[in-house]
Amino acid sequence: MNILILGGGGREHALAWAVMQNPKCDKLIVAPGNAGIAAIADCASLDIENGVAVVNFAEENAIDFVIVGPEAPLAAGVADDLRAAGFSVFGPSKDAARLEASKSFTKEICDAANAPTAGYGHFTDADAAKAHIRENGAPIVIKADGLAAGKGVIVAMDEQTALDAIDDMFGGEFGAAGAEVVIEEFMEGEEASYFILVDGEDCLPIGTAQDHKRVGEGDTGLNTGGMGAYSPAPVLSDDIAEKAMAEIIRPTMKAMADRGMPYQGVLYAGLMIKDGQPRLVEYNVRFGDPECQVLMLRLGAQALDLMQACAEGRLSEARVNWADDHAMTVVMAANGYPGSYEKGSVIKGLEALPETAHEMCFHAGTSAKEGQIIATGGRVLNVTARGDSLRQAADRAYAMVDQIDWPQGFCRRDIGWRAL
Ligand code: AMP
Ligand code: GLY
Repeated sequence: MNILILGGGGREHALAWAVMQNPKCDKLIVAPGNAGIAAIADCASLDIENGVAVVNFAEENAIDFVIVGPEAPLAAGVADDLRAAGFSVFGPSKDAARLEASKSFTKEICDAANAPTAGYGHFTDADAAKAHIRENGAPIVIKADGLAAGKGVIVAMDEQTALDAIDDMFGGEFGAAGAEVVIEEFMEGEEASYFILVDGEDCLPIGTAQDHKRVGEGDTGLNTGGMGAYSPAPVLSDDIAEKAMAEIIRPTMKAMADRGMPYQGVLYAGLMIKDGQPRLVEYNVRFGDPECQVLMLRLGAQALDLMQACAEGRLSEARVNWADDHAMTVVMAANGYPGSYEKGSVIKGLEALPETAHEMCFHAGTSAKEGQIIATGGRVLNVTARGDSLRQAADRAYAMVDQIDWPQGFCRRDIGWRAL
């Protein structure tokens, strides 16, 4: 089978690694890929948000199965274009991708499904939004309605911060994404991510994880795309996970099908858990990055079979072969991230790292230049390990981190602290 993966970050390296474990895969192309992916698959440059270009590429390369990594091509309708051309695709339609691309759409679906989530108001003008903030007070959460690359959410602990956020959003700071805002009730609790495959009808959970969004140890400092993750997340106990399936996931997926936009792909539910009750924070229509890295290390080759069963509507007969294991990924980022950082520094020591079924250094922002690996992004490496316990996974991951010679990079030393 010839497989095409769209994307070029750590998530896609982990997907490529899992796909390559499966003997069904004859040929793998990743577009655009990165230096780590190039070591295990072919990389191709391709405008992955251009449906016509992707369809042509898939035809030219006799592709049998396409896996879409990031949200942007999904929101642009690339999965629809591929399916219309007859390809088997893992990833939701443009309509269904609105679960991530529009916060107000997700809130409406939650209302229709009676799913527990934060109370909210939806505003298209600044004065009404400010009146709502004054009426409800802080803490309160302001969200740009559209895709804002993870930067469109302001958790305001005081009223003035919330009012300023409204000025910023309606003042154009978030572009078109900020022309509408959702204002939410602040939810207390502990966050965790739940990943569920959905084939339009059936839902199959494939794992839990916890991300570390803040740049600094002890969850301090600026928000990032994620500085590390581990799986499973003990806060999402079997009981709470079953509650989330029964009260949130299945009812919202049914509401999507009822509206004629059945969801197909991986659903990433961000949940807030307090007093044994899960509430939905947000949906994403793709794997989390770096959560995907720990899920793929745990699932291995079966990930491809599961994604295919999902794309072909066969989830009712699919089973996950669970192992009683733990995985952790530590993100190494360029000094300065998530602010400004330099590109082009050389990373040494990577060739000596172990590459086993329980230890992998996935690449995020790297490229190869004159035989060397150089850093080309903010988040650069995802040092990932598996073990019988989270402690063992952490020890293995940090032992690898210590072998990497990259003075221009840093990582958090406390990934997994809540569970350890
Ligand atoms: P989102 O992009 O919607 O996931 O928001 C980013 C982050 O903001 C979440 O991961 C939470 O940490 C926080 N957040 C979002 N909505 C709320 C809420 N209603 N209450 C508390 N925290 C929130
Ligand atoms: N790690 C958070 C995300 O992928 O959205």
